[in-house]
Amino acid sequence: MSILETIPRSVLLEKDHIVLLNQQLLPGKVQYEKLHTLQDVWEAIVSLKVRGAPAIGITAAFGLVLAADAIQTEHLTTLHVGIKKARNYLASSRPTAVNLFWALDRLVEASNEATTIEETREILRREALLIQKEDEDVCRQIGEHAVTLFEHGANILTHCNAGSIATARYGTALAPFYIAKERGITLRAFACETRPVLQGARLTAWELQQAEVDVTLITDNMAANTIASKNIAAIIVGADRVVANGDTANKIGTLSLAILAKHYNIPFYVAAPTSTFDLTLEHGNEIVIEERNEKEVTHVHGTRVAPIGVNVYNPAFDVTPGQLITAIITEKGIIRGDYSVEIQKHFQ
Ligand code: MRU
Repeated sequence: MSILETIPRSVLLEKDHIVLLNQQLLPGKVQYEKLHTLQDVWEAIVSLKVRGAPAIGITAAFGLVLAADAIQTEHLTTLHVGIKKARNYLASSRPTAVNLFWALDRLVEASNEATTIEETREILRREALLIQKEDEDVCRQIGEHAVTLFEHGANILTHCNAGSIATARYGTALAPFYIAKERGITLRAFACETRPVLQGARLTAWELQQAEVDVTLITDNMAANTIASKNIAAIIVGADRVVANGDTANKIGTLSLAILAKHYNIPFYVAAPTSTFDLTLEHGNEIVIEERNEKEVTHVHGTRVAPIGVNVYNPAFDVTPGQLITAIITEKGIIRGDYSVEIQKHFQ
């Protein structure tokens, strides 16, 4: 068994339910939950039981399959109206990661081809499973491209969790670590803990440890010192939405790291599948940034650490300007240069 197979899958579609790895409980518990209804799926996405742009998209797609199966009707139009309603409900779960909308719309569009109720349900299921399968292949390809950017023995900093459990498999920013491992190349990861929800500490540190990748955990405020003192060769992160000019939304804290990379003159890479690009938007300031419950900031693991009544600002993501990004790695290759031009070319 390859080392990577020791990392659990984040989401699977069964006949009448979804099996979901509850990422809220990691690393303490590796626990799977069954989701049966549209509401279960919506709640799982909102509460971050599943998170990471591609994994959210896959889970929402599976949710739409369950929703369509649950609609009892003999009329094709009624089924399609129900599917669109379910699509809108799932789309309301989180606003920033474009993969959510991309996956849901891909399913709705595919189902429009169907001429019977049975065919509609079959197409939805087939398309949802295809999205998952494709994401695995795409992430592997991202890893293959990204690994060429790093030298044997390099120390590389990452943020949040853009790993296997945030995707169908391999991850985006973490994919090169796995590919390197398979090839006997040593890459050492430095993982920022990623306050407020601690995806770095809870998920990236755990996931890389499972795969026996050398990982060192730091708190977010140690990043500058770590770059200065630990010979960090590069920073690599994932993305929730990349727009036409290369501006990229990713987990809050990413922008600070990009600024640090510029200061220390090290490359800052974004690894993202083409499904994370939103070419309908020109600039990063058009991206809707999710603001989450203030409790994520005032509390740590259920314990209040801030005074009652303090004002809180809790954006879940920030936008890194394209100018601060050395290269964007997709399944199709590595994009560099003037992103307004090069991203268009990449998609042609
Ligand atoms: O709030 P989250 O945990 O869903 O945020 C996740 C990130 O910001 C990831 O870096 C991004 O979705 C890419 S996952 C391959």
